Amino acid sequence: MRKIILDTDPGCDDAMAIAYAFCHPQIELLALTTVFGNINVGYSTRNAQFILETLGATKVAVAKGAAVPSVQTPLPPADFVHGADGIGNVYPGSTPDKPAEVTINLNPDARHAVVEELDAADFIIASARANPGEITLVAVGPLTNIAEAYRREPQLPTLVAGLVIMGGTVDEPGNVTPLAEANFFNDPHAADSLMAGDWPMTLIGLDVTHKIMLGDSALKRMDNNAGQTGSLLWESSRFYVDFYMTKSVVDNPPERQCAMHDAAAIAYVLIPDAFEVQSGPARVIPDGMASGQLAIDRKGYDYGTLHWQDRPATHACMAVDSERVREHFLQTIIEHHIR
Ligand code: RIB
Ligand code: CA
Repeated sequence: MRKIILDTDPGCDDAMAIAYAFCHPQIELLALTTVFGNINVGYSTRNAQFILETLGATKVAVAKGAAVPSVQTPLPPADFVHGADGIGNVYPGSTPDKPAEVTINLNPDARHAVVEELDAADFIIASARANPGEITLVAVGPLTNIAEAYRREPQLPTLVAGLVIMGGTVDEPGNVTPLAEANFFNDPHAADSLMAGDWPMTLIGLDVTHKIMLGDSALKRMDNNAGQTGSLLWESSRFYVDFYMTKSVVDNPPERQCAMHDAAAIAYVLIPDAFEVQSGPARVIPDGMASGQLAIDRKGYDYGTLHWQDRPATHACMAVDSERVREHFLQTIIEHHIR
């Protein structure tokens, strides 16, 4: 059984990752820690609770995290991608131009109904100390919470089983600038600080997530065969698919489709052999025109520059068996959904 804490900014593709992690029998989803990014952290926390309620995930904790990046000034939320409420405008009472303010009446007995006293960083540290070497941190939003936990507890890399990050891009063009992927662009300082640590870390970047597109036929399969879990993923992806059809990630797509970025990080935890990695010391450019760019030294030349020195190798996924990952995700939701 793999114990996971999922750090997330739900987020339409985050909802897919949350459902995937909760439904798979080999994963014990301990908690969601929430962060700003696709939407402000108030909404991302409320969306996390709503998603867990819909899945029937009554034992999963929620710990609220960072509202702003660690250093740079906050950027506007990606509501043009994920909707005004951050989850495709399907939060009860939301409309396309006005996110619902009310919080749903969460099941009072459900653990996720309450947000933990500890903030995300302290929750991560306390969980890792209580379960040394057992928990895999999966980060699918800006890395502010993980970096803050590492700042507070420098031994954190030795206390976790792994750190799997949906973020960055090496050869594939960026999705926020030609060079930068959104999670790294939203807090490049946090991302760069993690690359300096000796983590058991793997990056699931656009080089692979732009190869694992999810079509409406697949999303409809979940809607038809996976209860309210599948219907949530179908309904919350309508706005998200509309966005992807305006953005040519793939030329001449075979059908309406979207990127299942965050679910690919869960797939890496479950079927890592579906991915191929390349490794080397990594930097994330913290500012300027290239802000958020992931720069990995894959050659190891003696460049005579200090910027990449004394950094352990970071592993970045560069190839993937897309069909296998897509089907593994779909089968998990269809066969193992609770509600
Ligand atoms: O670049 C894609 C990432 O940014 C995903 O995690 C998506 O949810 C957004 O947070
Ligand atoms: Ca995300």
